[in-house]
Amino acid sequence: MSKGSILVVDDESEIREGLELLLSGEGYGVSSAETGESGLGKLEERPYDLLLLDVSLPDRNGIDLLREIRTRDPHLPIVLITAYGSIDMARAAFKSGAMDYITKPWSNDELLAQVAQAVEARKLREENVQLKKAFKQRFNFPNIIGKSEKIQSLLDLVAQVAPSRSTVLISGESGTGKELIAKAIHSASTRADKAFVPVNTGSIPVDLLESQLFGHVKGAFTSAVASKKGLFEVADQGTIFFDEIATISPETQAKLLRVIQEREFMRLGGTEQIKVDVRIVAASNIDLLTLVREGRFREDLYHRLNVIHLQLPPLRDRREDVPMLLTHFSERYCLENAKPLRTFTPGAMKLLMDYDWPGNVRELENVVERAVVLSIAERVDVDLLPETIRSKEIVRGVRLQLSEFMPPLPGEPGARSGADHSQPSLFQIMDEIERRIIVDMLERTNWNQTEAAERFMIPLSTLNQKIKRLGIDVRRRGRMGDDSFLASPGK
Ligand SMILES: Nc1ncnc2c1ncn2[C@@H]1O[C@H](COP(=O)(O)OP(=O)(O)OP(=O)(O)O)[C@@H](O)[C@H]1O
Ligand SMILES: [Mg+2]
Repeated sequence: MSKGSILVVDDESEIREGLELLLSGEGYGVSSAETGESGLGKLEERPYDLLLLDVSLPDRNGIDLLREIRTRDPHLPIVLITAYGSIDMARAAFKSGAMDYITKPWSNDELLAQVAQAVEARKLREENVQLKKAFKQRFNFPNIIGKSEKIQSLLDLVAQVAPSRSTVLISGESGTGKELIAKAIHSASTRADKAFVPVNTGSIPVDLLESQLFGHVKGAFTSAVASKKGLFEVADQGTIFFDEIATISPETQAKLLRVIQEREFMRLGGTEQIKVDVRIVAASNIDLLTLVREGRFREDLYHRLNVIHLQLPPLRDRREDVPMLLTHFSERYCLENAKPLRTFTPGAMKLLMDYDWPGNVRELENVVERAVVLSIAERVDVDLLPETIRSKEIVRGVRLQLSEFMPPLPGEPGARSGADHSQPSLFQIMDEIERRIIVDMLERTNWNQTEAAERFMIPLSTLNQKIKRLGIDVRRRGRMGDDSFLASPGK
């Protein structure tokens, strides 16, 4: 099977043939066209996974052509081929919807990496679309994204338990999707057309919570000027969702237990028993069993709630879902902000894949929203990621070990007595650290100072000054740590 189909549009036959040879050798299906018009014709004939487009074609202005193709197919990944690499060119291209650009002459390895990434992004998008369709048909919960084994088996379980009336306990860290799953259970049940009533037990004082849950009669307390239905009555025939169940007081726990057992209750101040048919779903991000052992949660209530237990995995245990979630939220927030679809550069993607996501899917959603809102180019790079994720990148590979720089104190190994001028000063230490960080970044940007300055978010002139001052040899392009004062004292 072909890895993907690629259309090359370039007027130079050497380029077309070279690309055809290179890409078909890698397993892609390749077609080519010589002019903009014939390229458009080919795009009409069949779908492609990627377009490699020369911006300087004899018959059409490249950027105009790009716009025209975009209006016809908003999702086709396009990589531009340019004879010169300039930031202005790239900006113009990104604005009109190109995904990436390559500069002639290129390195084959780099080109293949860019092509693979673009085709992969296209596939992910299609997979997302397919997956959503499949879920819609099966259970009608299109919003739950994840192809990992963990999520898929969880969804199978949800589909299995949803039709019953059984109480479900959902546990998982903050942001793992407990409320989302609770709603999915409701909407896949026979109760779907009745109410789903969430109760956030955490933020409400005991008395108020009970009057909210069970309602009250007129005069039950000073401010009860009229009778009021409680949420249990509102949820009749539907589902009631107790969020953060661990936070409810012992008194309310006792009342809740009674409702679950008897399926009836009284309004505050009332005498009449009210019967309800309510499905109870509860969620907790604290382990309830631990609370039971500590005597802070009723054991009998725990068993009543824990008839079916769904444990939501943290995102770091299913990293394979990260790319799909990124695409999913990028689609949502691009639509909301009326921007063309944003994708992530390989550098940004790597950081996002490596990150531990303590706030799970909610944190990822926020990261995508922020990046989409701040983005100008179609591809979101490292600079638009929050500091917590980016800080890994800044010192990546530098592996600073502070002990390496620390002058030893008297009594510590290597300490010398009195003022010792061969010992580096704090200023020299700071210079060395700065130098290592700069060299590391330059190595990773292929010694492209403009790009390095952009990554560091400082003006190019400032970077140049630093390079001069720190004696970084940009022509030698070697790692300078070797001949620093630390490696050869006395220098
Ligand atoms: N698998 C998923 N696919 C798509 N969106 C998800 C997924 N899991 C969670 N989300 C989204 O992440 C956000 C947080 O989910 P949710 O509110 O359900 O988490 P939670 O476990 O209840 O968190 P908390 O414990 O903090 O209340 C929501 O916007 C939700 O739609
Ligand atoms: Mg929640």
